Formats: sequence, structure tokens, C-alpha cells
Amino acid sequence: MTQPIDSLDEELKRLLQEATETLAGAKEAAEIEALRVRYLGRKGILNRYFPLLGAEGRPAEERVRLGQRLNAFKQKLEQEIFERRQALKGQAGGAPHSEDLTLPGHPTAVGRLHPITRTIDEILSIFRSLGFSPVEGPEGETEYYNFDALNIPPEHPSRQSFDNFYLKVPPSEKGRWLLRSHTSPMQIHFMEANTPPFQILVPGRVFRRDAVDASHCFQFHQVEGLAVGLNLHFGDLKGVLVAWARGMFGPEARLRFRPHYFPFTEPSAEADLACIFCRGKGCRVCGQKGWLEILGCGMVHPAVFKAVGYPPGTVGFAFGMGVERIAMLKHGIEDIRLFFENDLRFLQQFP
Ligand code: DAH
Repeated sequence: MTQPIDSLDEELKRLLQEATETLAGAKEAAEIEALRVRYLGRKGILNRYFPLLGAEGRPAEERVRLGQRLNAFKQKLEQEIFERRQALKGQAGGAPHSEDLTLPGHPTAVGRLHPITRTIDEILSIFRSLGFSPVEGPEGETEYYNFDALNIPPEHPSRQSFDNFYLKVPPSEKGRWLLRSHTSPMQIHFMEANTPPFQILVPGRVFRRDAVDASHCFQFHQVEGLAVGLNLHFGDLKGVLVAWARGMFGPEARLRFRPHYFPFTEPSAEADLACIFCRGKGCRVCGQKGWLEILGCGMVHPAVFKAVGYPPGTVGFAFGMGVERIAMLKHGIEDIRLFFENDLRFLQQFP
């Protein structure tokens, strides 16, 4: 006995309505999936009707009609399941289809080293290859380390040019506290704690009571060098500095040593670099002199060794250079203030 086609029609309509209602109440993807399996799965409700298509005694046009109904049922329910899934996704986050995978990503700002840091690194790496090792010292110093131990007694005229900002804290037994005016005090700290031979570098920030203009600032950086022991003489000092200058400015670099005065060295010299812009002919940068003043140096004064308790006859050499000045020469920068203003338009020019 075959079920009349009209009653089958009715039954399918009811089933679809029932499925649609359940679907509308589904709150989670798992519920939707369970419903899909129940109606459209391999052993689901709908598949139970397909055998009826081949049932004996059903007229051909009825079979066609039933086939159409079953397919329509399947399509309709699949469509509704799809829509319900999208709607749930939309509630979970953003509208459906809201992701555009072709959009470019958010750029991440990549940091880089400051040109002064990079110049210090470059200076250090050349001296490292000559056997020097870097050490760092404190930016706050006492008068003893900043002046006295470096052979700058209170009445000494140099004391004035190195004089500096004092800190409002109780003085120590080594005198009042101030910001260091050079990296040279670290020579004393290091020698107090070590015995020769050694070759060190002291990179760091220093301070001066200078009014700010294109070539002066109340803060800047220095790299100090100190080599003690091993029968060192002025020729060693020259050799080391010439090798450094060639590494820093290219194989053509030339230095000249001009007698000078520093309290902590004797003899003392200033080293000038043959102008890298005009190759010594004279130009605006070197003030028509053909030479650029680049560092101070000399053989360590015996009074300095005495201050740290080294025996008489100890020998060594020292040098000190301003990092900003070297960076300005290397990169053709005309204003020292650019290094401290943090203007990205300037800083981003150093890739
Ligand atoms: N400390 C000196 C300054 O700030 C630079 C200097 C010159 C350092 C000669 C030295 C040196 O070690 O030997 O101007």
C-alpha cells in the first residue's frame, strides 16, 4: 500500500517547518550541526524518503513530483543552515564576510640605533681590533676623580674650563659631587682596581657648563682610551691613533700631532685629521686650515700614576675624543643640537 502523494507532500512541508523552527532557536554551531545530521545526514530523515521513489505502483509523474519535493527540501534546508551559521558567526565578531585578507597589514615601527650610539660602536670596534676593551664609568663624579687625581688641583686654571654642574647632595670624603666633565675620571677608577698591563676604552656621556649653539651643548659623548705598561712610548700612541683614523675615515686618512697642554698627560698633543672634505687644501669645513682638530692625547703624567699608587717609572698613553664631532664630520652634519632633539626626520636618515 503506497502512501498517497498528497499526504507525503504534507508530511515533507511539516518536517521542513519543524526543522526551520529548530534552526531558528539554535544558539551554537554544534546545535546546527546536530540538526543537519538529523535531517540531511546519511542516515537522516530525508534519506528515508528516497526509497519511496522506486516503490512499486507509484505513477511516473508522482515519482517525478516526489523527487522534486525531496530535492527542494534538501536545498532549502541547506540554505537555511548556511544562513544560520553566518548569522551566529556575525554575532561572535564582526559582520559576515568582514575580513578582507587582501588588505595590507598594520606596519610595525622598527627601532634603530641612534647615530651617536652607532658612531661609538664603530669607534670601539676599531680599537677592539687593536686590543682595547671597553669599560664604563659613572656620570656623577666627585671633585677628586674629576679633577685632583687627574693632576688638576683646586688652584689650577684648567679647573675652570672643566668646571661643571654640582649636585645638591652631601659631599663625600672625595669632595663635592658633580656631573663628570670628561670620561678621564674612569682612568682613575680603573687603575685603582687593576694592575697593568691593560688597554681600555671608556665610552660615555659627559657634561659641560656650555651655552648651546651649533657646535656646543651641555651634554655630549666621549670615548677615552688608556694603555698602561709594556714599555709604551709616544710612537705606540701615534701608531694606534693612525690605525684607528684609517679604520674610521678610510685608508687615505692622515693625522698630525700638534703639541698641546693637558694636566693629566706629559707630553700632550692634539691630533688633527687632514680635512676629509678638501683633502688638506682648505675649505669651509676646516676653516681653510686643511686640518680638523679631532682628539687630545699624550703620555700619562707621572702625577696621575702616583695618585693611584702605581710605582715610579710606570708608562702609558691616553687619548680622548668627542663622539658628536666625529659623527658630524663623518656624516656632514652641521648642528650638534640635531643629535639631542629627537626629530625623526633627522634620525631616520641613518638606516
Ligand atoms: N679629557 C679631555 C677633555 O675632555 C680629553 C683628553 C685629552 C683625554 C687628552 C685624554 C687625554 O685621556 O690624554 O678635553
